[in-house]
Amino acid sequence: MRTFNKTVKFIKDLSDIHSLSRSECLIIYDQVLSQNLEVNAWLKKFSKTYGVEAGENLKELTSFSNHFEKIAKILAGTSRKIKIVAMGGGSVTDFAGFFASTYKRGVKLVLVPSTWLAAIDSAHGGKNGLNAGSLKNAMGTFYFPEKIYLVKSVLKAQPRERQAEAYGELLKIALISGKPWVNKVLEGKELKLWRLLPLAVKAKYDVIAKDPYEEKGVRQILNLGHTLGHIIEKKNSLPHGVAVGHGIVFASRWSEKRGLLKGENQKKIEALIKKFQNSKNKLKPLTKVDLEDGLRGDKKINLRGKIDFVFLRKPGKVFLEEVSIADLTDEAIAQGWAKV
Ligand SMILES: NC(=O)c1ccc[n+]([C@@H]2O[C@H](COP(=O)([O-])OP(=O)(O)OC[C@H]3O[C@@H](n4cnc5c(N)ncnc54)[C@H](O)[C@@H]3O)[C@@H](O)[C@H]2O)c1
Ligand SMILES: [Zn+2]
Repeated sequence: MRTFNKTVKFIKDLSDIHSLSRSECLIIYDQVLSQNLEVNAWLKKFSKTYGVEAGENLKELTSFSNHFEKIAKILAGTSRKIKIVAMGGGSVTDFAGFFASTYKRGVKLVLVPSTWLAAIDSAHGGKNGLNAGSLKNAMGTFYFPEKIYLVKSVLKAQPRERQAEAYGELLKIALISGKPWVNKVLEGKELKLWRLLPLAVKAKYDVIAKDPYEEKGVRQILNLGHTLGHIIEKKNSLPHGVAVGHGIVFASRWSEKRGLLKGENQKKIEALIKKFQNSKNKLKPLTKVDLEDGLRGDKKINLRGKIDFVFLRKPGKVFLEEVSIADLTDEAIAQGWAKV
């Protein structure tokens, strides 16, 4: 894994991407982006491009071989020096990352995330994932890109709803980092995401650098909000970032109840999520079966059949503690996320 400084480049617009020589690249892009004039003009510079429809279907294992064959045909006659450049949200960077890590046993990867969520979170950390039916991200590799370009003009061209989708992961990394900018996030004012981006991304690299391949139990703190979040996401077909926001509320309430987190901090977290993701009322209540099935299938389950849950003491102090599926289920019911 390269360092933050070597990997991530913050640039004004696509004309600042100089390192991609035309003949060596294949651009895998979200076809929605071809409506963006700047992206459209940029794509025309490359002879090898592959447009995809973003979303969870793109990551579906059963359709992967079809995509693989089509892309391999475009790449026929090229060498292993080819670079795969992914431009899109998290579904596209996951798909292209998996492709790059398996094509000819691995070719170079460059990411140009186009959603705030991908720019803050999914493009960083070297993980990718495909879905096997209802099993989200069940298959994947650790595969670090050689460069990640965060392009101001592309990110700022997104519709507003994409911003709310990013707040869950932004709050997560702010709480984990505990650096002064967390207070700005918790203030609850509209955030200038482009300005916060370097701080958020650096904070994620600080965690990953200590445990790049998730072997030491350090990187798992990045799962804050994801245990219940994933179950809510699946039940309600919610955007990932919105579901993570709800998961953080759950973790913060449980942390407060256990005397770990101060009430005033918990209230700020909850108010922020409510303000920007006002969809709690519309959530379908989870059943005990949803919870038990979701938790049993969770990647965070350990050898003892328990979950390493991320609790919060205060911003900058998060830690893992083993909890039983029964305790987690009871807490979700007590908080009203699930019914008996
Ligand atoms: N690998 C990781 O570490 C990691 C971490 C978190 C999430 N993820 C994955 O990321 C995915 C969610 O990310 P996402 O929300 O970015 O996904 P996405 O790729 O599905 O994009 C969401 C929507 O935004 C649209 N879009 C993308 N860029 C746009 C732009 N600039 N302007 C307008 N619309 C644009 C897409 O067409 C799509 O409709 C999930 O599949 C999740 O599993 C991966
Ligand atoms: Zn996430």
